[in-house]
Amino acid sequence: MLNLVLFGAPGSGKGTQSEKLIEKYGLHHISTGEVLRKQIKEGTELGKIADSYISKGHLIPDSLMIDILRQELKSEAAAKKGVIFDGFPRTIPQAEALEEILRENGTELTGVIGLEVPEEELVARMLKRGAETGRADDNIETILNRLNVYHTQTEPLKEHYQGKGAYIRINGLGDTDRIFTDITGNIDGRSKK
Ligand code: AP5
Ligand code: MG
Repeated sequence: MLNLVLFGAPGSGKGTQSEKLIEKYGLHHISTGEVLRKQIKEGTELGKIADSYISKGHLIPDSLMIDILRQELKSEAAAKKGVIFDGFPRTIPQAEALEEILRENGTELTGVIGLEVPEEELVARMLKRGAETGRADDNIETILNRLNVYHTQTEPLKEHYQGKGAYIRINGLGDTDRIFTDITGNIDGRSKK
């Protein structure tokens, strides 16, 4: 069973690489951003709350986010196949909750894939996507807030996972297939150990 966290700044390629990993390893994909965007689209109460944070580039409060994750993990697919966590955890309390939930489910984290990409490239990717798809938080003001939130609240997790020997650094700049090969080489090396 593989349980992988895809970690990285906004625009670093978590979603793109998740798609490829699901195909190769048959994992269940949980993107907390996608879960929230679906709620916004459906106009639910949760969607209204989520929108008030996402539109500013702020994080949804930990307690709410952890409840949502617990719900998502109840699916049969998650229990059977293992999971790619895309965009979760983003804070130390979320990381601690994830470790506890996995332990309760009799499993554990295999590794944390850290996609490292220079800031100018992140901004360029998100502006391009904003222009092409109209994703609401891909405007320059919200992008800069998202990056700021990443540096202050999420980046400290890198050290947290490095301390546990779980962080796998991947150069996230360049060809998506090369990045994918780097990721799978690391995962396959780990799961053989
Ligand atoms: P979320 O949806 O997770 O967004 P994000 O972290 O800001 O990241 P993105 O989805 O923008 O980027 P990505 O890393 O997935 O990259 P992608 O593959 O798309 O979260 C959105 C919001 O929800 C948060 O701001 C927060 O408010 C809330 N939220 C979510 N999770 C939360 C949590 N756990 N706690 C609290 N709040 C939470 O790639 C980006 C673009 O670049 C794409 O257009 C892609 O085609 C392109 N691209 C990808 N790879 C390459 C490459 N190698 N070269 C060139 N272009 C590339
Ligand atoms: Mg994404």
